[in-house]
Amino acid sequence: MIPMDELSKDLAHGSVGAIVCPYPAGASQSKESGSIVDPVLDCPDEVSADISAVLHESQVMEVLQKLDEELVGLTSVKTRIREIAALLVVDRMRRSLALTARPPSLHMSFTGGPGTGKTTVAMRMATILHRLGYVRKGHLVAVTRDDLVGQYIGHTAPKTKEVLKRAMGGVLFIDEAYYLYRQENERDYGQEAIEILLQVMENQREDLVVILAGYKDRMETFFQSNPGVSSRVAHHLDFPDYLLNELLAIAQLMLAEQMYRFSPEALKAFEAYLKRHMHMPRFSNARSVRNAIDRARLRQANRLVAKGGRISKTDLMTIEAEDILVSRIFTEYVPDDEQQSDRS
Ligand SMILES: Nc1ncnc2c1ncn2[C@@H]1O[C@H](COP(=O)(O)OP(=O)(O)OP(=O)(O)O)[C@@H](O)[C@H]1O
Ligand SMILES: [Mg+2]
Repeated sequence: MIPMDELSKDLAHGSVGAIVCPYPAGASQSKESGSIVDPVLDCPDEVSADISAVLHESQVMEVLQKLDEELVGLTSVKTRIREIAALLVVDRMRRSLALTARPPSLHMSFTGGPGTGKTTVAMRMATILHRLGYVRKGHLVAVTRDDLVGQYIGHTAPKTKEVLKRAMGGVLFIDEAYYLYRQENERDYGQEAIEILLQVMENQREDLVVILAGYKDRMETFFQSNPGVSSRVAHHLDFPDYLLNELLAIAQLMLAEQMYRFSPEALKAFEAYLKRHMHMPRFSNARSVRNAIDRARLRQANRLVAKGGRISKTDLMTIEAEDILVSRIFTEYVPDDEQQSDRS
């Protein structure tokens, strides 16, 4: 767990109270010298803003806390998000003291395998950006190539612009962004979409954050072929595959959220299940865990109905080992190249 009060500790040098400047409003000339007085730069020590007020008013700490509690692992992602939040808090305070600067560039890339939490974190990111006043609305519009690129000449620009319009004031999340670029086809309409995106990423960055997501190696190739995109992405966040203990913790968190739990034997069975499943191709990290839990619920329900009679609250809450062990993961040998994802 990352202590979330670190953000406030790191930054907590602001004094309490409203912004205070010793020069009365309108007094822009010093009487003695007649020289021009800059109301901010000439009284830096006396002017202050309250960092805890910004944190309190934006309620950003609550979002960071929830991110920490509700998402297992992802330590480096969480650290980076806290850093970005700190940047936005300071930016907001600076603006309140008329210390002007270009808004920080916040376009990002989220790389990682399936089910590693990219979409989930992007949604939290949109909330943080909104609470800290970076974007107006804080919604997330998730798209893929087909939403941006048309099939025929003249179709791409209106499609891309329509998506951008919808996303304005929030986050545009482009999943598998590398499909926008087709190296083998110079006339591919994807290029047109990329060019429109680039303009908006540059010119409207104070009201739209673009997150490009996908597998790490393909994203790297995409960035190499599209330096214009790469240079506009300020933050690269990598989402590693989860380790066995993290997958188990995710399972228990998901169960607890829905008021279920594993019996001690079921926990062991689920660990054995994951050990087999996680090394199979197309295993999708936390998403596979969610699917496996859904199937276990289905089996539990069938077991209870078949049993009949009175059923206790504990029974209704408990997933037993048998609800896991009947999975085909245990019984079937599937050659690597014939496996399908999330076999039950
Ligand atoms: N660290 C985590 N802790 C708890 N639940 C998680 C975690 N990561 C992902 N999940 C859950 O797993 C599911 C899949 O996550 P998500 O859709 O964010 O992954 P993704 O990386 O976007 O996957 P894809 O690349 O396939 O789109 C969601 O239900 C999400 O809540
Ligand atoms: Mg996703």
